[in-house]
Amino acid sequence: MKSLHLGFDARDKPLRLTIEDRKTHMHVIGSSGSGKSKFLEWMIRGDLRNCQGFALLDPHGTLYHEVLQYSAHHVLDREIILLNLSQPTSVIGFNPFQRSGIGDVSVQVDRRISATMHAWDIPNTDQTPTLARTLRLIYTVMLEMNLGLPQVAHLIDFNAGDIRNHLIDQLTTPLVQKEWRELQSLRARDWRDETLSAKNRLFKFLTSPTLGRIMGVQGRTLDLQEIMDQGKVLLVNLAPSDYLSHENGEGVWSFTG
Ligand SMILES: Nc1ncnc2c1ncn2[C@@H]1O[C@H](COP(=O)(O)OP(=O)(O)O)[C@@H](O)[C@H]1O
Ligand SMILES: [Mg+2]
Repeated sequence: MKSLHLGFDARDKPLRLTIEDRKTHMHVIGSSGSGKSKFLEWMIRGDLRNCQGFALLDPHGTLYHEVLQYSAHHVLDREIILLNLSQPTSVIGFNPFQRSGIGDVSVQVDRRISATMHAWDIPNTDQTPTLARTLRLIYTVMLEMNLGLPQVAHLIDFNAGDIRNHLIDQLTTPLVQKEWRELQSLRARDWRDETLSAKNRLFKFLTSPTLGRIMGVQGRTLDLQEIMDQGKVLLVNLAPSDYLSHENGEGVWSFTG
């Protein structure tokens, strides 16, 4: 990570954001039209000049387009990855359930559960044990088997028991495998009770063709760590459109953990 030149203070002294400053969170506060967005764009231009890798997640789309325009003219020596979830023309794959090569699957699952619960405004997993358990079972299968979003439908559809059995047999986490087998042995009504809250919440993502297409791509998908390490740039447009709802735009990043 590199420090960033911000401008000059009231005494004309250069003002820098140090590496230490940048490792903590930052809020940019001001009334409408006071220059917050331009300030962010200025910082992004600094990072582009410094060859600092970063990702921009833009919920409105304006900054995404400004940075894209700047990059098209001034950043010709690096990979700029465009993930435009707002428009159906984006073809790049992003599977947030892709397993990271290092570390335990259970830790990666934990992170995703915390992140999705947080995005769904659920303060802690103790209050919704059934939802947390079902998510743990689903996310473990997805990470271990390298599945994309569209396959989640099979994991929550009562009638897809055969597909699930096939996947469960291959699991390498014995406790999760045992839990899945117990779930599989339930009758339709009990199965519904157990899985309903996870199903209700995941359903919104599963019914979006835009997310299904992007999160279902097999093969090369985005590696956020690699982007940071190699000085690459990821620009993500999450602006609500005819193809992306506000809720799905916000929610899609919650799976990354
Ligand atoms: N440092 C600056 N110098 C001159 N004009 C600026 C500066 N920062 C912002 N502006 C202009 O002010 C207007 C509002 O800025 P913007 O960044 O969109 O505000 P905010 O995001 O806080 O609502 C824009 O037209 C922008 O070009
Ligand atoms: Mg703004």
